[in-house]
Amino acid sequence: MIDLRSDTITIPTAEMIEAMSRAELGDDFFRDDPTVLDFEAQVADLLGTEAAMLVISGTMGNIVSAMALAPRGTSIIVEASAHIHINESGWPSTIAGLTPRPIQGTAGMISVPALTEAIAAGQSRLSTPPSLLCLENTHNAAGGRVMASSDLAALADIAHSNGLKVHLDGARIFNAAVALGRPVTEFARHVDTITFCLCKGLSCPLGAVVAGSSEIIQRARRWRQVLGGGMRQAGVIAAAGRIALRSMIARLEEDHQNAKLMATRLRDAGLDVDPCVVDTNIVFVTLPSNNFDPTFLQAELSKNGVRISPPKAGRMRLVTHRQISQADALSSCDLIVRACEMAVGRQPSSEKNHVGGEAVY
Ligand SMILES: Cc1ncc(COP(=O)(O)O)c(C=O)c1O
Repeated sequence: MIDLRSDTITIPTAEMIEAMSRAELGDDFFRDDPTVLDFEAQVADLLGTEAAMLVISGTMGNIVSAMALAPRGTSIIVEASAHIHINESGWPSTIAGLTPRPIQGTAGMISVPALTEAIAAGQSRLSTPPSLLCLENTHNAAGGRVMASSDLAALADIAHSNGLKVHLDGARIFNAAVALGRPVTEFARHVDTITFCLCKGLSCPLGAVVAGSSEIIQRARRWRQVLGGGMRQAGVIAAAGRIALRSMIARLEEDHQNAKLMATRLRDAGLDVDPCVVDTNIVFVTLPSNNFDPTFLQAELSKNGVRISPPKAGRMRLVTHRQISQADALSSCDLIVRACEMAVGRQPSSEKNHVGGEAVY
């Protein structure tokens, strides 16, 4: 199968499995798992922060960051299609006591005037005062778009000068850093907390990291415990994480090149996709809105060995990763073009017929 559903499907490398099986372990609750301590120190060093903490998932990283930074009963400003807002099951309200204040962005980016306006609107006695700005880089729903560190800094400066804290959902921050050819410290230094995922393009089996000042990470560690996210011999995760830091970051460039190649080939074959907006490893293809059956498209591709997530809101998402070679990228394009041609002229069938779970974007 050529699996283009997500970069989360990557399985750990042989080197990771070997490192996991040989990891020196202890009990992380007592802070004596040497592999976790070493990994967290390496992350802090790489990001230029005082401290870092291993968590189970990117979602948990976002939750504990927000809870460490934002008092209950306040609001968080997010871009309207941010993962935190649309794909994390509503934790701001259900768990953290925070009201989301979404702002419609362009290519996943909030504009400076829109942020200024949202902060001002939140000062009314009738509204929920904003205490936190959450940014996302790369931006998943915008198609892996990258936010330059200067743009991030401009937004963070406005937030900070108005008394707000700033969290960066950097699930794919290394994709952004590699795409821009900049060190990841350039993003981390403008925010109070940053999370990144180990189990997306970096190929670990699970895990994510939260980084920030020692004081904030201490608070986040308490919230991790509250959520039931405390871990014991977590060195097995950290061991894979150390390999990821060492050997999985630079190769992301390959995924970006394959994504660009796919977008170009699909565009040249007449599909509605713009290679110029493919910054990293995510490609969105806009599907015809009439006389086209996206469910058939997905099923036809599946029959021919290509897995995609169910198309959503008229778009098909294709994600490149370590398990997609250049040859896979090219051959899947030919199959996609053929399946799209076959899906034309068919009335959309029920979404219940989608192959596999729901769309994740
Ligand atoms: C931008 C972004 N943030 C956060 C997450 C959540 O990560 P996890 O699935 O590890 O909870 C994802 C997952 O796809 C994501 O794309």
